[in-house]
Parts: sequence; structure tokens; C-alpha cells
Amino acid sequence: MADKLTFTRPDDWHLHLRDGNAMRSVLPDTARRFARAIIMPNLKPPIVTTEQAAAYRARILSALPAGLAGRFEPLMTLYLTDATPPEEIARAKESGFVQAVKLYPAGATTHSDAGVTDIARCGAALAQMEKLDLPLLVHGEVVDPAVDVFDREKVFIDRVLIPLQQRFPGLRIVFEHITTREAVEFVQSASGRIAATITPHHLMLNRNALFTGGLRPHHYCLPVLKREVHRQALLKAATSGHARFFSGTDSAPHPVSAKESACGCAGIYSAHAAIELYAEVFEQVGRLDRLEAFASFHGPDFYGLPRNSEQISLIRESWQIPAQIEFGEDVLIPLGAGGQVCWKLVGN
Ligand code: DOR
Ligand code: ZN
Repeated sequence: MADKLTFTRPDDWHLHLRDGNAMRSVLPDTARRFARAIIMPNLKPPIVTTEQAAAYRARILSALPAGLAGRFEPLMTLYLTDATPPEEIARAKESGFVQAVKLYPAGATTHSDAGVTDIARCGAALAQMEKLDLPLLVHGEVVDPAVDVFDREKVFIDRVLIPLQQRFPGLRIVFEHITTREAVEFVQSASGRIAATITPHHLMLNRNALFTGGLRPHHYCLPVLKREVHRQALLKAATSGHARFFSGTDSAPHPVSAKESACGCAGIYSAHAAIELYAEVFEQVGRLDRLEAFASFHGPDFYGLPRNSEQISLIRESWQIPAQIEFGEDVLIPLGAGGQVCWKLVGN
């Protein structure tokens, strides 16, 4: 049993950093572990133009503490709306720092109200993305209130993703934070243009974790945790070595007051221990040998970016996750608060 793992520095292909002092608090957790991260654009107001993405990128870079400056690259995204013009897509591609465009179905999740009401309205933008080879990242859930919350991802595949793929066969698509066996099967059987990210929390927890001994708001995220059979399918996919599954934490910090509320926000914070938690999960199924490919190779290969050249090391040493973490003027409750993680990041 290895007591030290040294491997290519990983990337996080799905991250919420927020802004201002809140961002300042959480950014070092990611930058210590990951070389790059795809930064979600669901700020309020959202990042809908390349110019806004440039300004947000500059704020992220200037929020890096001295020791991490120059070691972390934010990969920016635009927030797709019904009105995104193809010219904006061209500007995004031209910029070199916008790596993708994010589709939030309007009303699907946190800060998605400015999202897409009907994908049919986005034809010109999507055609331009296909032409310029700028990937589309999808929050894959329908918002139809008649659809059971636990079926929203599965129904999205049939109603939105399959028709989208047929209409734009050349479009690169990342099916973000997949949660179901159906999503795994869809990606496996899809063309090489479709990949998926998988979060640590969807690998670690099933939906029972929402209700263990009472209501657990810190385990609430979207897409919501699913049954154990789905977690097993995700685990199998992540550790299979399949090149179109890769790391994306969806670390999504919220102040404790917004989570522990009569209408609590969706989002789980995992940046404080993300690569360590992935390592723990891979080890549980005896596949630590495939962690590097999942966390460090498959993502850049799919995005057409170079793999990182530096390395990181984890040692087998148990440490306690803090009960809470500073979050701007507030605090947040991290995934696994108060519990132990068996892998520890060396240095950094
Ligand atoms: O749980 C989630 N939180 N899912 C999302 O899609 C958005 C995210 C957030 O921004 O808090
Ligand atoms: Zn997200």
C-alpha cells in the first residue's frame, strides 16, 4: 500500500469561485491543489461577455496570495443566454482565455434565472461554437415541474442532449457533474465529442446522506444526490480509465446562513480537500493507479490543452477537516466538516 502518491498536478474542470472577499477566502484552497480550473460564470449578474470574463479573470489573478501567484490559471467561461450573439462567441474564442460556454437551463439551479429558457433560441450561438470549436458545458437538468427532481438529469438526456447532439454533431460538449447511471451510459455510447465531469461528493455520497438522522443541508447540491446504484455507476466510470470522464469538483461555497435556512441554497464546498477526497474514493475501489489520468490527463486532452508538467504529492496521513472555514465576512461548512481525510497534500 503506497504511502506517498506523486503525480501530475491536477486540474479542476468545474469550479465556483464567487467574487470579492468570498473569493479571496476560497481561492487558495483550489490554487494549492490544482494548476487550472474552469471558472463558472454564474455570478450575479452573470458573466455574459468576453469583456466581463477578462475583468473577472483579472480579479481572480489579483486575489491569489503571493505564494500562489503565477501558479494557477483560471480558465474562463461565458454564461449562455437566449440572446448570446454569435459575434460574442467569436470574441470569446479569439480571446484565448475563454475556454467554454455554460448552459444553465433558466431556473435549474443557483443564479440560473438569466439562463436559457429554450435551447431552440440559441441556434446561432451554438452553430458558431460548433464552427469555432468552443465547447459547451451543460447543467444537465430539465426544469419542467412535472418531472420528479430525481429524474431531471435522465429526462434532460432525452429531451435536450440527444437532439442537441444530432443538430450539432461537431459541437464539443461537457455534461457537467453527472449523477446517474443513464448519464454514464450516454457518455460511454456518445461520440468522442461528449465528455463528463464527476464531483467528489457524487462519488462519496448517495441520497441517504441528505437525511441521515435529520435534514442535512450541507449535502444539498444540484443535481441532487441520487440512489446508491447511480453512485456505483459513477465510481465505475471515474475509475474505469475511460478518457471522457474527468475531475470537476463543482465546489460551490455558500455562507452557512444561506445553507441552514428554510430555503437552503444548493452547493457543496469541497475545494479544501478535493484531490485528497478523490484519492480516498479511488483507493476505496483499489484504483489509485487511475487517479492521475482522471484528474490530470483526460480533462486537458478533451479541451485540447497541454497536460501540466509540474507534480504534486499526497502522503498517507490522516488530518481533520475544519468544522468551518472563513468565507468573506461569513463562514461556510466544508464537505466532511469535522471528519478525517486519510491523504494529505505535501508542501504548497
Ligand atoms: O449545487 C450547485 N451549486 N449546483 C449548481 O449547479 C450551482 C452551484 C452554485 O453555484 O452554488
Ligand atoms: Zn456548478
